Amino acid sequence: MLWATSPALTEIENQVLDWLVDLLGLPQAWKTAVGPGGGVIQMSASDSTHVVHVVAREKAVARGASTDDLVAYGSSQAHSSVERGARIAGLRHVRLLEVDAAHALRPDRLQAAVADDLAGGLVPTIVTSAIGTTATGAVDPVAQISAISREHGLWHHVDAAWAGAAMCCAEHRRHQAGTEHADSYTFNPHKWLFTNFDCNVLWVADRAPLITTLSTQPPYLRNPASESGAVIDYRHWHVPSAGASAPSSSGGCCAATVPAACATTSASTIALAQEIGRRVDEHPALERIAPVSLRSCASATSRATRRPTRSPTPSTPRRPSTSPRRRSKMRGSSASPSARRTRPARTSSGCGRRSPAASAGRTERT
Ligand SMILES: Cc1ncc(COP(=O)(O)O)c(C=O)c1O
Repeated sequence: MLWATSPALTEIENQVLDWLVDLLGLPQAWKTAVGPGGGVIQMSASDSTHVVHVVAREKAVARGASTDDLVAYGSSQAHSSVERGARIAGLRHVRLLEVDAAHALRPDRLQAAVADDLAGGLVPTIVTSAIGTTATGAVDPVAQISAISREHGLWHHVDAAWAGAAMCCAEHRRHQAGTEHADSYTFNPHKWLFTNFDCNVLWVADRAPLITTLSTQPPYLRNPASESGAVIDYRHWHVPSAGASAPSSSGGCCAATVPAACATTSASTIALAQEIGRRVDEHPALERIAPVSLRSCASATSRATRRPTRSPTPSTPRRPSTSPRRRSKMRGSSASPSARRTRPARTSSGCGRRSPAASAGRTERT
């Protein structure tokens, strides 16, 4: 978005995202009005994660590294946007690291993987930690990951896509301890904060590398306001050039102006998840596969009591949804041997786990 095409919306976006910093208890330096950081609305958490992988690559290349040597890290439970962000940025090495019993990234594994990569001549470049993983709501140890990132010069991105909204309740902010040392942070008001699509927020601790990475100056977008240097042109902060994120700004505005309502809703949803967790624990046929985390309670049907799948009876014949010929065609087209090698095997709970053979691809799970 260009300030000149949407001055009011740009100012609203500045203001609303600064309010959201207070709502979620994030660092004051991430406010656009304070700096050196700032916030911008993106379309999705995936967009934010993809963009920061590109920014991290540019920083590493500016320090003299070759793109071929750059390494991205996350946990085996990280959202697929981490692996995709690395691909989009052209990073050939992705390490999806082992998690602990609570499905959170193990800092010792990160430290070891970084040491191995340095010893192998590679360049550790970016790590993504999650506050609320997709499958189980696990919270990675953000403070420890920040410390390792600072020691080795990695960009530290925090993905709080759905769980970030819970931080409007002060009692949950312990989950984001250490975020003040992260380089970027993303969350989706459109997931849990009464906000319409598409409204993802990306904050960066320092806006300069983001702007340097995405800036271009074509003659047809030049205008006196931009050249004055006194305005924010969000086109340098996200991929779209001149379009406005009008609905998002107004939706985000609603969320940020009713902090009490946000806190109440988050607290009641979290209480509901706790209650569901209690009921799952009591239920003979259910098994909780991870601690209840914020609004997430991951459960599976217990193996001992799982009912056998019934075959269709003659009185209720079921037609196969696809013909055998079409099924074999689909197998041939969508699952080439190389695709199978690099795609994580998913358990019924959605937690990514890979067979040793599956680890042979360029995405390594360690
Ligand atoms: C932890 C986490 N990160 C990222 C995403 C991707 O979000 P989006 O659909 O906004 O790209 C999700 C989606 O649910 C998620 O749970």
